[in-house]
Amino acid sequence: MIKRILLSGLMLAAPTCLLKAEELGDRTRGLEYARKNCASCHSVSPHEGQSIMSDAPDFVSVANTPGMTPTAIAVWLQTPHPNMPNFIIPESDIDDLTAYITSLKTPK
Ligand code: HEC
Repeated sequence: MIKRILLSGLMLAAPTCLLKAEELGDRTRGLEYARKNCASCHSVSPHEGQSIMSDAPDFVSVANTPGMTPTAIAVWLQTPHPNMPNFIIPESDIDDLTAYITSLKTPK
């Protein structure tokens, strides 16, 4: 009997773990990093409006682009910018940035 209860407890816990795995980063640190390293081109927060560099999409639009899942954002950030081949973001900052950008998604 006890074994059964433990087992069902584990099954309930599993999906929550999976959800958490997507949010490894700290979005406040992500915003700080973005302000320092991305804001010269991108509009990084919802109140800033258009990006400074017209080719650079603002982060709210990035977050709301269909298919821009946390994984897709993380993968994008591990790829050098097309026009900035030397721009490489450290892995720990990628998690924070991904958490931050994902948090900008407007709920439907
Ligand atoms: C020197 C200017 C510049 C800086 C600095 C910069 N970007 Fe970009 N970024 C661009 C441009 C221009 C594009 C559009 C490139 C393209 O689509 O070919 C872009 C595209 C992107 C995209 C893809 C958007 C999409 O919808 O495809 C993401 C995500 C992104 N940048 C994130 C970042 C992050 C995070 C930082 C800071 C760590 C950053 N960028 C810093 C200029 C910049």
